[in-house]
Amino acid sequence: MCGIVGYNGKNKAIDILLDGLSKLEYRGYDSAGVAIREKDIKIFKSKGKLVNLKEKLSNKRLNGTCGIGHTRWATHGEPSENNAHPHISNDGNVTLVHNGIIENYLELTQKLKKHGYKFYSETDTEVLANLIDYYYKKYKIGPIDAINRTMVRVRGSYAIAVMFEEYPDEIWVARKDSPMIIGQNEDGTYLASDVPAMLKYTRQVYYIDNMEAACLKKNQVIFFDLNGDVITKEMKTIEWDITAAEKEGYEHFMIKEIHEQPEVIKKTIGSYINNKTISFEESGLTKEALSNIKQVYIVACGSAYHVGVCAQYVIEELSKVQTRVDIASEFRYRKPLLDKDELVIIISQSGETADSLAALREAKSRGVKTLAIVNVVGSSIAREADYVLYTLAGPEIAVATTKAFSTQLIVAYLFAIELALSKGQITKTKYNELLKEIEKLPTSVQSILDNDLKNIQKISSEFSYKQDAFYIGRGLDYAISLEGSLKLKEISYIHSEAYAAGELKHGTISLIEDNTLVIGVVTQEDVYEKTLSNLTEVKSRGGYILSISPENIDVKKVSNYSIKIPQTLKYFYPSLSVIVLQLLGYYIAVSKGIDVDKPRNLAKSVTVE
Ligand code: F6R
Repeated sequence: MCGIVGYNGKNKAIDILLDGLSKLEYRGYDSAGVAIREKDIKIFKSKGKLVNLKEKLSNKRLNGTCGIGHTRWATHGEPSENNAHPHISNDGNVTLVHNGIIENYLELTQKLKKHGYKFYSETDTEVLANLIDYYYKKYKIGPIDAINRTMVRVRGSYAIAVMFEEYPDEIWVARKDSPMIIGQNEDGTYLASDVPAMLKYTRQVYYIDNMEAACLKKNQVIFFDLNGDVITKEMKTIEWDITAAEKEGYEHFMIKEIHEQPEVIKKTIGSYINNKTISFEESGLTKEALSNIKQVYIVACGSAYHVGVCAQYVIEELSKVQTRVDIASEFRYRKPLLDKDELVIIISQSGETADSLAALREAKSRGVKTLAIVNVVGSSIAREADYVLYTLAGPEIAVATTKAFSTQLIVAYLFAIELALSKGQITKTKYNELLKEIEKLPTSVQSILDNDLKNIQKISSEFSYKQDAFYIGRGLDYAISLEGSLKLKEISYIHSEAYAAGELKHGTISLIEDNTLVIGVVTQEDVYEKTLSNLTEVKSRGGYILSISPENIDVKKVSNYSIKIPQTLKYFYPSLSVIVLQLLGYYIAVSKGIDVDKPRNLAKSVTVE
């Protein structure tokens, strides 16, 4: 999705803006632009990658120390220089960049046209520049009141950064439902839609809330509420390590992040297990609150939803609490039957996914307690949920999630175990056994990376020409197949589907022909024989079978190629099989020559519905 940066301080703005935008490239975009305050405001835009904009700027001498920048992911209007941001009001009084969607932009455009405004782009953003200008001039009021009136009038989501012709040393910002953070150091003030753009300059940040605005001066940030009154904000420190947002010699962020998994899993476990006991104390989720939960809903999108599918099996089996998993975009509109003694869990890496955020609000508005499992500290979902359990994955840059997924799984397991204990459904001995096994996962993940990576890399190149792939498994193996299938399709563009192995016979098996690639995940002892039968059926119809299983499950007979993973308790196998599935997706995409970190049409955080 779109990215925003801004800087106002002592140094040349253009370098900081371009560097910030390059750190946001991973989010996905199709054009870019900057506005720099020289004597007047200078705007440069180009279609395509940032390198095109850099080329355009290469012979320009821009010494201005105040500016804003943007990477656009087209929603309204094609990717083009004309539709790229910044946009300006008709007479250049207001220059603006915007993330989000203005839902009533057509109605507002008509209104402004009646007042003589003309529109030159196909975007919903241009209306914001003109509307702010309209209020600014109509009421002869300053920036804050013009912005506040605009915020009240528009519907939709936005994070905006605005420069006014008449206020040369200021950048104004405002937000509703689109992410934005504001940073400060001795060299100036910064704004960005995502942490990596700012990490190099400062870790001291402010979180601006919905329907708030701020003025970034060269050495000060002033915050305002919707009444235009000044409000105070506490500065927070981002703990993320700056190297976490760099490739550090790896070919892609995705493979770097795959390799970071043993460490981030360990960190996440360590942040919740103390003295062989799980503690969610800091989140406020007490044992008493847990013991009162009658039903759990897990709501998320994409891979985070797949964590939910895995968690559903584990929560129900261990705690006997009924659990339902929903795709957030469905949950928010299906009018779910919710009761006060239920818990809605929202899982999200970014904490900004529009549908997940809306689902959280829907649950809260019905008086149901919400728990967020989130990676980005200070994100909207983290701030609005009743309880928050953070994953300690650090910044995840590759569009396809890997390390965030793995840490979400860990938190979901811990939640299931703690819930089971609070409900009296497991003994202390069982509890200890589960925790002991969880603590072994980082070593087991590491051993897959050490021992299997080369083989997976080798076999993957043979699959790069495939048109289709099927992932099958039962129970938790089915749940993780969903993730394996998504990993493959999103980065290698190979069509793939995941099926509960028992479902194949009900239609899909007709698609199996000579050499159709079928990946069988076979880790669950209680159902593995049934999965083996399904794989045999596939093999006898010519399918090529790649199986993933632990040593104690013999899959040789049915497999054309088999990958072994370390043994663990049945609940935790998804944490191990997913590493193989990630590597498989990654290496197939690499052998197809695809830009793995930025697959086509995708964005890292989906902040519009
Ligand atoms: C796939 C992927 C997406 C995200 C989904 C939710 O690799 O990354 O499917 O899992 O867009 O995003 P978050 O977790 O930020 O809510």
